[in-house]
Amino acid sequence: MPAAIVTEHLTKDYRVGFWRPRPYRALDDLSLTVEPGEVFGFLGPNGAGKTTTLKLLMQLVFPTAGRAEILGRPVGDPAVKRRIGYLAEHPYFYDYLTAEELLGYFGGLFGYSGADRTRRVARLLDEVEIGAERRLQLRKFSKGMIQRVGLAQALINDPEVIFLDEPMSGLDPLGRRDVRALILRLREEGRTVFFSSHILADAEALCSRAAILAKGRLVASGSLSEMLAFQVRGWEAVVEQLPSESLPRLEATARRVQRIAEGRYSLEFPPEPPPEQVLPSLLSAGGRLVSVMPLRQTLEDFFVERVGSADWDRMGQ
Ligand SMILES: Nc1ncnc2c1ncn2[C@@H]1O[C@H](COP(=O)(O)OP(=O)(O)OP(=O)(O)O)[C@@H](O)[C@H]1O
Ligand SMILES: [Mg+2]
Repeated sequence: MPAAIVTEHLTKDYRVGFWRPRPYRALDDLSLTVEPGEVFGFLGPNGAGKTTTLKLLMQLVFPTAGRAEILGRPVGDPAVKRRIGYLAEHPYFYDYLTAEELLGYFGGLFGYSGADRTRRVARLLDEVEIGAERRLQLRKFSKGMIQRVGLAQALINDPEVIFLDEPMSGLDPLGRRDVRALILRLREEGRTVFFSSHILADAEALCSRAAILAKGRLVASGSLSEMLAFQVRGWEAVVEQLPSESLPRLEATARRVQRIAEGRYSLEFPPEPPPEQVLPSLLSAGGRLVSVMPLRQTLEDFFVERVGSADWDRMGQ
């Protein structure tokens, strides 16, 4: 089975400036592979080049160098277009249409008609929880509702690979939870989802693998567990019924001691020595161990560390 998405040395320069246009490198030498059935997070701060990459994959803009493939075929192959879905970053739809009419129109573009089209539209609108409002003109829709219609639009042709540019943007916490659930369902159905985001919690909740882009360049990519697993920053123990005479020794060993209640403490230790060596002597005078937990680096720590150091010169600046 071919990879779902491959980019090889994908590069995009925009021409900026009116009198003396000069190239501005928005994407620099991006090589990535996304396997079928993956939910892949494409992460990066504002201006990193995420939308540019998605537009290159959709052939809304054309590369300065490099190439890209979707489902084993060059992007732009009409046979591929039928098998993919795309939600743009700021979807704009003709807003005198109702949600139902708009989806019907997109369904028509993919060749669906009659009862089949009506059924598809109704099912998708149910799925994104647009109820009776589906008969309202889109200009009366809130931002979050437009985003849901956009998601339904991206799924109208039962796509195998779905590209979502900031799918959670404009959504309230409940809306975000629903979109997360939708993405997970798409994965269960065996589809590939490639989504951009700068909300790291969404990536942590959804993807198996991710790439981090900053200033047009790939800073890191791989499975989230590979990126984060071995970066244990220390460990935390909660103890109770601790006799007060144990405290001075605790304070000398732990990185942080926080009293939760009488005799109950939360303790933070550096990664070394490991808990099994430290705890027996600390608890020798009494006390009960409630929990021990490794303090893992979060995607946010990783992101700040990597993106913070990604300070490169860019062409044309
Ligand atoms: N049409 C254009 N002409 C000139 N420069 C552009 C154009 N489109 C994007 N850029 C520049 O390319 C860089 C990458 O933009 P892009 O929209 O891909 O970033 P992004 O990662 O999607 O950011 P955000 O999180 O804000 O959506 C930015 O510096 C942007 O100003
Ligand atoms: Mg963008």
